[in-house]
Amino acid sequence: MAKEFKRHLITSALPYANGPVHIGHLAGVYVPADIYARYLRLKGEEVLFIGGSDEHGVPITIKAKQNGCTPQDVVDKYHTIIKDSFKELGISFDVYSRTSSKTHHKTASDFFKKLYTDGKFIEKESEQYFDTEANTFLADRYITGTCPKCGAEGAYGDQCEKCGSTLSPDELINPKSAISGSEPIKKTTKHWYLPLDQYEGWLKEWILDGHKEWKTNVYGQCKSWIDGGLQPRAVSRDLDWGVPVPVEGAEGKVLYVWFDAPIGYISNTIEICPNDWEKWWKSEDTKMVHFIGKDNIVFHCIVFPSMLKAYGDGFILPENVPANEFLNLEGDKISTSRNWAVWLHEYLVDFPGQQDVLRYVLCANAPETKDNDFTWKDFQTRNNSELVAIYGNFVNRAVVLTHKYFEGKVPALGNIQDVDKEVLDQIPTIKKNLEYNLNNYKFREALKEAMNLARLGNKYLTETEPWKLAKTDMERVATILNISLQLCANLAIAFEPFLPFSSAKLVNILNIEKISWNDFGGGDILKEGHQLNPAQLLFAKIEDETIDAQIKKLNDTKAANEAKAAEAAGKPAPLAQKEECTFDDFMKMDIRTATVLEAVKVPKTDKLLQLTIDTGIDTRTIVSGIAEHYTPEEMVGKQICILANLAPRKIKGIESKGMILMAKDESGKMKFVTPAEIVDNGACVG
Ligand code: MF3
Ligand code: ZN
Repeated sequence: MAKEFKRHLITSALPYANGPVHIGHLAGVYVPADIYARYLRLKGEEVLFIGGSDEHGVPITIKAKQNGCTPQDVVDKYHTIIKDSFKELGISFDVYSRTSSKTHHKTASDFFKKLYTDGKFIEKESEQYFDTEANTFLADRYITGTCPKCGAEGAYGDQCEKCGSTLSPDELINPKSAISGSEPIKKTTKHWYLPLDQYEGWLKEWILDGHKEWKTNVYGQCKSWIDGGLQPRAVSRDLDWGVPVPVEGAEGKVLYVWFDAPIGYISNTIEICPNDWEKWWKSEDTKMVHFIGKDNIVFHCIVFPSMLKAYGDGFILPENVPANEFLNLEGDKISTSRNWAVWLHEYLVDFPGQQDVLRYVLCANAPETKDNDFTWKDFQTRNNSELVAIYGNFVNRAVVLTHKYFEGKVPALGNIQDVDKEVLDQIPTIKKNLEYNLNNYKFREALKEAMNLARLGNKYLTETEPWKLAKTDMERVATILNISLQLCANLAIAFEPFLPFSSAKLVNILNIEKISWNDFGGGDILKEGHQLNPAQLLFAKIEDETIDAQIKKLNDTKAANEAKAAEAAGKPAPLAQKEECTFDDFMKMDIRTATVLEAVKVPKTDKLLQLTIDTGIDTRTIVSGIAEHYTPEEMVGKQICILANLAPRKIKGIESKGMILMAKDESGKMKFVTPAEIVDNGACVG
């Protein structure tokens, strides 16, 4: 028998405030967390849903340096963008705060102090890289050098972005400070460590024995960490941005961001419930669930629980940590630095009023068990053939017909036939499936069940064809529409956790006060005679142009990235694609194979060769600027391709009839284009 809980504390990973939020964050963490929170609220449960920005850490200080501003400026900017865009997407946090807040600094500082006084840390000195020019210790991210694994330049002290290897600064070849560019020295520094090795036995029992029900990706990662042997982890850093280490002799040191950030869940609870926050954190009646992405598993399953355990004082541990895998975009890893992402704040501008479409697609494609892919085509298809064609279409038909035949009043339920009974019987079954899946964090499956309910309605109308019966049997039409409208009311409830904006619209169309999960399943939510509001479309078709514009945006990003990469590698960037041409434009060009019969240098020039060419239809002269790339001897006998019908031009007094097709290699040298195998001269290319 599963334990019964009185209340639900739902946390979602605090996003770093060094950039806006993208669809990967949403699909992995915030959409599922919001679905779960809304579902529980709809059931009447006591829920606290925590969010907030993670405003510390080295990347934020790097961004500030790059932009010539302070770290506070960086987090102020992104905290606002993130907070506003979450709100607009309907992510229903009860609190969305930030780790640069006073409350958080105090909470995190006190947390550290308690562990420090209780002797839960070990103090250790170690040698760390130090920049003597900038007079500062260097965070791993601030050291760059050659990757020992793949030889790439510009690898970071913690990771090589080229080959993906995890590194430590000591492994880097030719380490350089990213601040001054100088060669760093080693200097002794003191830090505090949480001895995770001492928690190994307890973690084994708590997770490996006690939480076998956790998702396999989560359980598996925990198992491999624990089986691999846990090491003491430093909880402080030499950095000037963060929560200062609150002990004497710790000047210039702050709490490690992964120590303070999860405490942010507690700080944010304190902020919203200053007087009774402890009931959320220190009561066995509270069920705590952490929603995170897979890169956060170790911190939420091993480190933070060990911190809470070390603290004692009745702190509860998470009941579950339903971490998701990653979402890719059009087959490529989402990357902030490469701008390969769909940014939430931009989506909201490009698709006004279409929040639910994104929520729907991200849930339907959620990377729950493996990495998954977002494509704009799939986005369009799911909108047009699922939201519009199934859910929207069914609701619209039911409401429009009710207005047409019954002045918008819910008609009476008459005699029930088999086909009616079948539909009514399925509603509770679908509800049960939905509940099972939602309770077990299987949101994709749950969403499918909700859509099945709409499918059921659509099929019901198509089979019973009330618009035909309207000529002969109005009583029967009344029954069919009554049942259809009951289905609509059930849909408003079933979809609320997933598509809250559409449910609100539907609730308004049905003219009902409030929906509750308890009503879900019933065939009599709407009473006979109840007046509906006018019909209104729940979803709009998304046209090809809209999707093409998004795809173009991504292609532009890709081209810009390639140009940047080419520039970094010292190569000229590939030219952007030329303006579109038509098939007819192309067919105008007479491109054909030809053989060079003779070649001589054009006197008094460096670049020009005069070539005598067999084109298959004639023998002609072409003057070509290839003398720097080929000698006359190299050209004779070669089969090439020419543009034969180029208007003749006089070059240095010689009439040139045509042009030789050439391609430049990366060093700028020209190569003539030749068929893969010798063919007859005069064969048309195209
Ligand atoms: N900022 C982290 C990330 O984006 C998540 C922090 S979660 C918290 O990966 F628990 F530490 F807050
Ligand atoms: Zn590498």
